[in-house]
Amino acid sequence: MQNEKIIVTGAGGQIGQVLLHALAERYGLQAVIATDIRPIPNWEGRFVTLNVLDRHGLEKLVEEQGTTQIYHLAAILSASGEKDPLMTWQVNMDGLLNILDTARDKGIERVFYPSSIAVFGAGIDLRQAGQDVPLIPSTVYGITKAAGENWGYYYYNRYGLDVRSLRYPGIIGYQSPPGGGTTDYAVDIFHYAARREAYTCFLESTARLPMIYMDDAIRATLDLMAAPKDQVRIRTSYNLSGMDFDPQELADSIREFVPDFKVNFVPDFRQAIAASWPQRIDDSDARQDWGWAPTYSLRSMTKDMLDHLEEKIASGQPTH
Ligand code: SER
Repeated sequence: MQNEKIIVTGAGGQIGQVLLHALAERYGLQAVIATDIRPIPNWEGRFVTLNVLDRHGLEKLVEEQGTTQIYHLAAILSASGEKDPLMTWQVNMDGLLNILDTARDKGIERVFYPSSIAVFGAGIDLRQAGQDVPLIPSTVYGITKAAGENWGYYYYNRYGLDVRSLRYPGIIGYQSPPGGGTTDYAVDIFHYAARREAYTCFLESTARLPMIYMDDAIRATLDLMAAPKDQVRIRTSYNLSGMDFDPQELADSIREFVPDFKVNFVPDFRQAIAASWPQRIDDSDARQDWGWAPTYSLRSMTKDMLDHLEEKIASGQPTH
């Protein structure tokens, strides 16, 4: 894995900002090219302004750089997507097809495509979603992710393009702000707790969802991308999970460290989205095929989030 040139799209998003640094650590700063429609804070490596709908700009960049891998993170998430379904379809789908087609034409070795628990919905037992269940998503974001998984499978089978994918649960991290998702409450709540302010939650107290700590999510991504080809048996997208909890349990976990922490529940339209998603997902295929195992529990994640955010506040850094 020497001489990699890795393009990350949507690199300024919640995952991208953290993944960039992890990739730079693993492959060297010179190997990583961050792209997004806006500049990225705290990134010292190369940055190129790129809209994923700009096929020509994408091809030019891939060619100039001798690109070997693309992590295609640019997308509109579940809650934002509902405000403009057709634009979400266009950005998420045309963006992916530009990436896949360019990757095929320019001989890219490997592509990473993030899918989501949003692919699940009606017609399954939401208490625990299996790997191979019908996908009937409730949001346009979920529709694009389910279709995207199938496009990855198609490019792998038809053109031999090595596309790899994870169905991320809600991702919780202190490093970057989430943007427009239904699981964002589980990040926001920590910012309020660290500032010792009350939090108003937009989901019901019982809205259980699968979640993962950022460090685990990044490690899963890098491990999947580094796994030998024959271990990556699933070419649509792997179920991935770290833990599951509802907002009440998360608030209780925070109260172990911030005893006076107060949370009110005022559900909005995002509650219906959460209710259509599974409460847990079965990630045993990822465990068997390429050795996935999460390291953070609800308690260790809560402690790490609060420690980092409190440190940022004490040293006057923005917490977003
Ligand atoms: N975290 C994402 C969202 O809430 C799910 O993929 O939209």
